[in-house]
Amino acid sequence: MYRLRCLPGYLSGRSNQTIRPSLAWFYNIMSTKNENWKLPSLESAKKSRNPISYQNYDLPEEFLGLGLGKKYYIRTYGCQANERDSESLAGILQQLGFQVTKKAEDSDLIVLNTCAVRKNAEDKVIGEIGALKKLKRENPNLLIAVCGCMAQEEEMVDLVLKKHRQVDLIFGTHNIDRLPWLLAACFNKQERIVEVFSDHSKVIEDLPVKRFKNHKAWINVAFGCDKFCTYCIVPYTRGRQRSRKAEEVLNEVKTCLDKGYKEVTLLGQNVNAYGKDFGYEGGFARLLSEVAKTGIARVRFVTSHPWDFSNELIETMKEYDNIMPYLHLPLQSGDDEILKKMGRRYTRAEYLSLFDRLKEAMPELAFSTDIIVGFPGESEEQFLNTLAVVDHCKFDNIFSFVYSPREKTPASYLVDDLDMAVKKERLKRLNDRFKPLALANAKKYLGQTLEVLVDGSSKNNPDVYSGYSPGNKVVNFSGDTSIQAGDLVKVKIERVKTFTLEGTVIE
Ligand code: SAH
Ligand code: SF4
Ligand code: F3S
Repeated sequence: MYRLRCLPGYLSGRSNQTIRPSLAWFYNIMSTKNENWKLPSLESAKKSRNPISYQNYDLPEEFLGLGLGKKYYIRTYGCQANERDSESLAGILQQLGFQVTKKAEDSDLIVLNTCAVRKNAEDKVIGEIGALKKLKRENPNLLIAVCGCMAQEEEMVDLVLKKHRQVDLIFGTHNIDRLPWLLAACFNKQERIVEVFSDHSKVIEDLPVKRFKNHKAWINVAFGCDKFCTYCIVPYTRGRQRSRKAEEVLNEVKTCLDKGYKEVTLLGQNVNAYGKDFGYEGGFARLLSEVAKTGIARVRFVTSHPWDFSNELIETMKEYDNIMPYLHLPLQSGDDEILKKMGRRYTRAEYLSLFDRLKEAMPELAFSTDIIVGFPGESEEQFLNTLAVVDHCKFDNIFSFVYSPREKTPASYLVDDLDMAVKKERLKRLNDRFKPLALANAKKYLGQTLEVLVDGSSKNNPDVYSGYSPGNKVVNFSGDTSIQAGDLVKVKIERVKTFTLEGTVIE
């Protein structure tokens, strides 16, 4: 038997417990001092071809109480997938006995759940890790953990290990379920622990979850991505696509419904490819209709890759009133040559044809998109092709980015000789072009009565409530004091701005 030696106070009165031999094995491989330890590898993440294995979360009883008397603080960067992961991290920590705090300086454990999608996202995290040095100096017992997509990158792990001694624990996107083991190892070993699985294919069901909202929920339908767009690091940091079983997704939706949730958003890097990895007949259109049939008030989904968008999906969106009339359909570029270099697998004409079919089927459908400017070699003419698509589609919102080369991605080996000033100027022109179109588009809501799911009081004014319309517009409105987060109210729209609508509640 392996005996886990506990530091006084750390296992909260559970010191000197006997740990099963299987756990002892994990303790051996995790420390950076172990001779078998090595940095994660984006390269092996790319090559991973393991079949999906579905597993349950099984926490040995001896871990319960690990966090009693301690407080945790989680900061999340990046996309909704990370947001949902943070809810699982919070669920695990609360199961271990930790309590949440909203202030990093009050906490015993700080978790930074990071994003690697662009360099500026990483720089922000590195800056914040640096700023935590002070807190660690003031409280040497503070444990600082870095997880999420940056933890999957060898360069980043190397940098943190060399330059940021204040970080105690690094773990990846594939081993969230291992948090109790990792924390126990940190508490016991007093040395830095790094555990990142680069080559992984498991789907862990039943992870505890502490949702951050009580009226709208994120629900994963698939993890990872198989598209390998040439600029994108996500398939490397999140692994190949692994769809959850439909019944697991539906059970999670039903649990939310039973708890009074009004809205679920189905999550995947490309939801439209749902089930292709295990041969789910009917694909995402079928799953979406099953979710809609549960009767939950609102269903949303992100993200849809245009390449996998089926006609059945258009029909399903049209059929169910509780599927919200809003679609995020990333364009990335409006130029065929750039789209090809990006590995997006559609042409400008195919994107526009899909857009027009959707608009024809559902004239009220609101659209948002993602666009990258300054992809390697993008000419002025190619950029103008993107603007022409923007003119045609009149998106309600555009998330626009300057291309950022990502380690190990094919695009990062292309010659990128475009001046940053030119890229930034294109970004500005894109935003200047789309905003008046979005405003003109939003004016159709003036005088209309929209159903709004209330999030709470507006950030800037406690007398004004805020929520989202079916078309995903932020609506700020006045109403009586009985209104609460989670209420569905009818709001008459009286003023329209580019990204927000304003009005008064009528019911
Ligand atoms: N799976 C989603 C989201 C991926 S990341 C999708 O396919 O839409 C979100 C957005 O970040 C992408 O749509 C893309 O516009 C942008 N992005 C990804 N990699 C990037 C890079 N290297 N440089 C700049 N923007 C990038
Ligand atoms: Fe990245 Fe493309 Fe996958 Fe989206 S679809 S996550 S942009 S590789
Ligand atoms: Fe960022 Fe990872 Fe999401 S790189 S965008 S947090 S999948």
